Amino acid sequence: MAVIALILHILAAVIWVGGMFFALLVLRPASGMLEPPLRLQLWDGVLDRFFRWVLGTIVVLLLSGYAMVFAVFGGFAGLRPYINIMQGIGIIMMLAFFHLYFAPWPRLRAAVARQNYPEAARQLNQIRAIVTLNLVLGLVTVAVGSSGRYW
Ligand code: HEM
Repeated sequence: MAVIALILHILAAVIWVGGMFFALLVLRPASGMLEPPLRLQLWDGVLDRFFRWVLGTIVVLLLSGYAMVFAVFGGFAGLRPYINIMQGIGIIMMLAFFHLYFAPWPRLRAAVARQNYPEAARQLNQIRAIVTLNLVLGLVTVAVGSSGRYW
């Protein structure tokens, strides 16, 4: 059980954090060559697919993370600091994602549907700022979560 939870946990982290890395550091610079209408339609489609995966990874991270907390570590009382740091930063990442998902994301979609590309670009900028924050937090969380047992 614990092994399955840990495998699912790490796969979810890889998908979420790796996806953000690819979006920001690979696809974003390369998509700059496209004219705004095409570029914003591309991001509309890219983020639509990616955010569904992120929702799934959040469910898996929470279920597998708390399954390990109870099954392996015997509940919250005996948790070592690195697990609390991972849990704390993880929850901040999730709140930041939900803000993005329910505020700028629907506005980006509506603006693209109306072909209002300057407005869509503004919303995409907000999404980019939040995803940048989450990428930094995600990399820190992976470093803490994977090395913490050796501290
Ligand atoms: C939000 C609540 C979370 C809880 C309750 C939680 C809990 C745990 C627990 C109990 C472990 C096992 C630690 C060990 O065996 O030493 C673990 C491992 C790990 N977690 Fe989390 N976690 C959470 C979120 C996250 C997030 C958001 C990420 C990354 C984005 C993450 C990345 C990792 C990594 C990389 C490992 C180490 C796997 C390994 O190398 O053994 N966790 N987590």
